[in-house]
Amino acid sequence: MTRNSRLPGFHKGTVRERRALVSDATGADLAEIEHALHAGGLEAATADKFVENVLGTYALPYGVALNVRVNGHDYVVPMVIEEPSVVAAASNAAKMVREGGGFAAEADPPLMIAQIQLRDVTDAEASVRRVLDRESEIVQLANNSVPGLVARGGGARSVEARVLAEDVAVVHVVVDCKDAMGANLVNCVAEAVADRVAEIARARVGLRILSNLCDKRCVRVRCRVPGEALATAQMTGADVIDGIVNASRFAELDPYRAATHNKGIMNGIDSVVIATGNDWRAVEAGAHAYAARTGRYQPLAIWRRDGAHAVGTLELPLALGTVGGTLRVHLAARLSLRLLGVRDAQELACVAAAVGLASNLAAVRALATDGIQRGHMGLHARSVAVAAGATGDRVERVAAMIVEARDITLEGARKALDVLGPESRDTSNAIGD
Ligand code: MEV
Repeated sequence: MTRNSRLPGFHKGTVRERRALVSDATGADLAEIEHALHAGGLEAATADKFVENVLGTYALPYGVALNVRVNGHDYVVPMVIEEPSVVAAASNAAKMVREGGGFAAEADPPLMIAQIQLRDVTDAEASVRRVLDRESEIVQLANNSVPGLVARGGGARSVEARVLAEDVAVVHVVVDCKDAMGANLVNCVAEAVADRVAEIARARVGLRILSNLCDKRCVRVRCRVPGEALATAQMTGADVIDGIVNASRFAELDPYRAATHNKGIMNGIDSVVIATGNDWRAVEAGAHAYAARTGRYQPLAIWRRDGAHAVGTLELPLALGTVGGTLRVHLAARLSLRLLGVRDAQELACVAAAVGLASNLAAVRALATDGIQRGHMGLHARSVAVAAGATGDRVERVAAMIVEARDITLEGARKALDVLGPESRDTSNAIGD
């Protein structure tokens, strides 16, 4: 079905009302949404089969970014994150991007790298040549180890090799993982071919493992945002664009700023990665290694002016799966894919990257205009109010009072609760002194 991710007034609804709206917008059954989000989608008994020494599960907020349009399609995008304002900021920025036609994105084929380290190499250059000469034999051996993947149209595609030191070389087997993230498949390939590769190279086997710097599996996203969509009450669109381009330049010149700029991008990407049951540590490792690939840590997204528009581009490796792993058992992760309606892992990567660029736009626009604290702390005030013991509609009232008083602290929230009256205090949520 065609999805519509423009849902005006959505944030004002209750949790139940929002679930019903998302059900209408995506075609997911309301009962399915409620069932999947019960207990965060994972019962302790199931969690006990995932990892060791389980005591229970650990919940995080599950929200949706709205207004996201990528390659002409609308997406309601699940985001799992504890940080206030990220979901709202991504939705707002996506709305601005929409005014310029939405995001345009493309993802490389799902090619992952299996690494086989070769030790005690006597003539590294000659070893590498011998391995490359046997490429088809190695590809065949790799494919024999993953028949299921080959049956789905994936499998080993090529072999590459590099000399790392006088006595060390590394062989890469490039594997098309189709819609899997691919870690298990790729590790399986690395272990299956290692002995034969070492024999061909006349070397000893070292490590056999995937590389998280999956730079053959990159995603690129671009947007073109009209100045009017970026303008604020105090600043013209042209001035905001100037501020955004300046923020980009700062990140391009300074790794200290680039790290924070990239953190803002990963706020969006990680939230989608977690919501869809994917491995966010792998994604983080790949993103930052890619940011540093030239030897200097760089921003993953940059911004330029094009006439009356701001043009943003983001590129990073993104190994995401839409089958296997957590998705088999995690109800909320499965629900996320259902809400997104993506056809494959490449489409999921395009959407996640678009939300990353939206998060980055929201951050650099805020930094170039009001500063980050205004919006951020306004939303943070609600969790401070809850931590102080506010419940029901008093959460919003206390939050508004402490924002107004510019005292967004537990103490400030407690004072606000005292002003509202003692019966408003529910200490079951409160953080102790
Ligand atoms: C906060 O989570 C992310 C930001 O620091 C990103 C940025 O500075 O670009 C706001």
